[in-house]
Amino acid sequence: MTHSTDTPVRAPLHVHPLTPRECAGIEQLVDQLAASFGSVETSEFADACALAAQELPRPLRELAHRFKHLHLPCSALLIRGVPVDDSRIGPSPAHWDATWRNPPTLREEIAQCLLTSALGEIFGWRTQENGRFLRHIVPIERDRGEQLGGGSSVTLVWHNEEAFHEHRCDFLSIVCYRNEERAETILATIDDFDVPDDLWAVLSAPRFVVLPDTSHLPDQNISAHWRLDDDAFERIRRMYAEPCPVPALSGSRRRPFIQVDEAYMRAVDGDTQAQAAFDWLIGRFNAHKCSVVLEPGDMLWIDNKRAVHGRSVYQPNYGPRHRWLRRVNVTMNLRGSMPLREHAVARHIV
Ligand SMILES: [Fe+2]
Repeated sequence: MTHSTDTPVRAPLHVHPLTPRECAGIEQLVDQLAASFGSVETSEFADACALAAQELPRPLRELAHRFKHLHLPCSALLIRGVPVDDSRIGPSPAHWDATWRNPPTLREEIAQCLLTSALGEIFGWRTQENGRFLRHIVPIERDRGEQLGGGSSVTLVWHNEEAFHEHRCDFLSIVCYRNEERAETILATIDDFDVPDDLWAVLSAPRFVVLPDTSHLPDQNISAHWRLDDDAFERIRRMYAEPCPVPALSGSRRRPFIQVDEAYMRAVDGDTQAQAAFDWLIGRFNAHKCSVVLEPGDMLWIDNKRAVHGRSVYQPNYGPRHRWLRRVNVTMNLRGSMPLREHAVARHIV
């Protein structure tokens, strides 16, 4: 079955507007989950959400199935028309450190988790917002020049989420609540260009190191809602002190996987050939950049192993209507991170 409404905009992005029937199916499942849960931030909710996602309208499950198994010729999908009630969600928060329980955005949060669960299992990082699944992405004046979600005055350069970590997500979703500043989300996929044999040989060898990004450091995790045990950062500290060399490209030559973070990645010391290959790869992403200005109700599914993403420079309207996005990560292999989780039901990687 093909989706006749799906419109290729510009590679690598395809658009799927939700049909009224699909919206009704989503709302019905949101009603059920909202009757039982006042927060999406528990493993019990994540499990209920995974099961509910199996009851999503079949066209949506089919779209997710085809996307995650690489049947579609795109590495990002824009789903339009996800319900976002601008009056109910209230003012944009001033900081990511917003309340977890009974938020005014509960229905929007459930809908995002539900739809994204069609791609994989929700999880969080203990060292990033104490494991919060669904992050707030809002401009923070103090962080405006940083490579962080709160940044704005510098381009958020090409990256895969948690590129430094072997258990990084397979997919992330971003839902837009507000973007009146019209900041651009940027995307590039490895499918848009060929990698010559000599460069493939270099880029697919473990000749690069990726350091943990600053969102996983203690000073970016100071919160009014929790006190994070310093021991939680022990593994991150080790990854920072002794990064293990990794390849930038891997897997199938025809449909490769990417492990890239332009700001935190470099060739191993002295390997000028690898650094030149890495610079070439970044140059290719720049040459094939695709941008999208997200609108309220847009949900972007990004294949985190097949596309890099970032954000343009923009001028935030700091205040109650500033840019407000939400992000959640999912994995196709929750079992794989079992050694780094406290128990099988826990969804936080320590
Ligand atoms: Fe990101």
